[in-house]
Amino acid sequence: MSGGIAAYKAASLARGLVKAGATVQAVLTEHAAAFVGPPTFAGLTGRPAHTGVLTDAHRVLHVRLARETDVAVFAPATANLLAKLAHGLCDDLVTSVFMCLRCPVVLAPAMHTEMWAHPATRANLAVLRDRGATVVEPGEGALAGGDSGPGRLADEDELLEAVARALGTASGPLAGRRVLVTAGGTREPIDPVRFIGNRSSGKMGYALAAEAARRGARVDLVSGPSHLADPPGLRSVRRIETARQMRDAVMQLCDDADVVVKAAAVADFRPASYAAQKVKKDDEGFTGVPLERNPDILAELGRRKGHRVLVGFAAETDLAEERGREKLHRKGLDLIVVNRVDAPDAGFNVDTNRAVLLSAGGGRSEVALTSKAGLARVVWDRVESLLDETRPPAPADASTP
Ligand code: C5P
Repeated sequence: MSGGIAAYKAASLARGLVKAGATVQAVLTEHAAAFVGPPTFAGLTGRPAHTGVLTDAHRVLHVRLARETDVAVFAPATANLLAKLAHGLCDDLVTSVFMCLRCPVVLAPAMHTEMWAHPATRANLAVLRDRGATVVEPGEGALAGGDSGPGRLADEDELLEAVARALGTASGPLAGRRVLVTAGGTREPIDPVRFIGNRSSGKMGYALAAEAARRGARVDLVSGPSHLADPPGLRSVRRIETARQMRDAVMQLCDDADVVVKAAAVADFRPASYAAQKVKKDDEGFTGVPLERNPDILAELGRRKGHRVLVGFAAETDLAEERGREKLHRKGLDLIVVNRVDAPDAGFNVDTNRAVLLSAGGGRSEVALTSKAGLARVVWDRVESLLDETRPPAPADASTP
């Protein structure tokens, strides 16, 4: 715990974790201890609550605590704590333990809206997410001092669920499964101002990621620019811009994935060169933007498929199903979700969709107009049966952060 008023809620969280069967070790910053006393946590957890690096100095407390930990939860994580964690400062017990951790990390930020929105906090969280931490986003509501807005510690149930997911002990039909989802469109820069992009909003991919998490999977999301908030309960969310950045993130994350769902609308082409200065409209020499082909991430995954279930999307404006079937085979997929993007109630940027699901085994099913969350449920039902047919769940692995 770090020093915010939400530290009082951490007492209830500690109790909830104990009730769920965990052995809980409370570690408080000096300021957290000013909000809620260590004896409260000692009473709730049945173990001494620690605040100082120098307690038990001869046994190097911070190293020992980190080694004994299966999952570390930082709740509340103040803006100050996030800054320290992102930069590797370790000037107290909480931060020193963090530096020694080799287990999954769950961060539950809580702070005033201004601090939450500050670019420094955003950048620190991006660093921590990139290093594999799960961030349980704060909710919106009453804050200290009579204020209200985003910044309030996430609900206890959400935190307990995030801990279970980090430990691989979440329940649900996808428990123990590791899922990678891509979402949104990519942006391919022409110059510092302009890019080539597409109309994808990320809604379909975010719905797929949220549904997988709800079913107990450990989910990583790689997203192009999107105005949507991170879906709850994911292990990580990486935000990228270009197809090549998406490829790098996917290749880093796919190795231990059981399922990869590529809902992203990846730009097929990018400008062959990037103009470091804005291209001026009166530039006489300007003749157009030559393009070159982007890597096909899904096809690359299909070539080194291994044990993974691969799901692709085909956004089409004509001959949808034929093209979808051709892509299914050419890219080595198990399942493709074919949807028309030229109807006003389906495809890009709307909340509804309709689709045809084609599977490598020859299966075909039509999904009539439904919400994107509804289509996500159908896709995961189908993936679950593909997994059951071929791959028993791997044992829970708590060692990968
Ligand atoms: O070939 P097409 O772009 O229609 O294929 C769509 C599917 O392939 C989607 O699942 C999309 O995420 C994926 N894709 C990709 N890399 C590309 C282009 C598409 O992974 N460069």
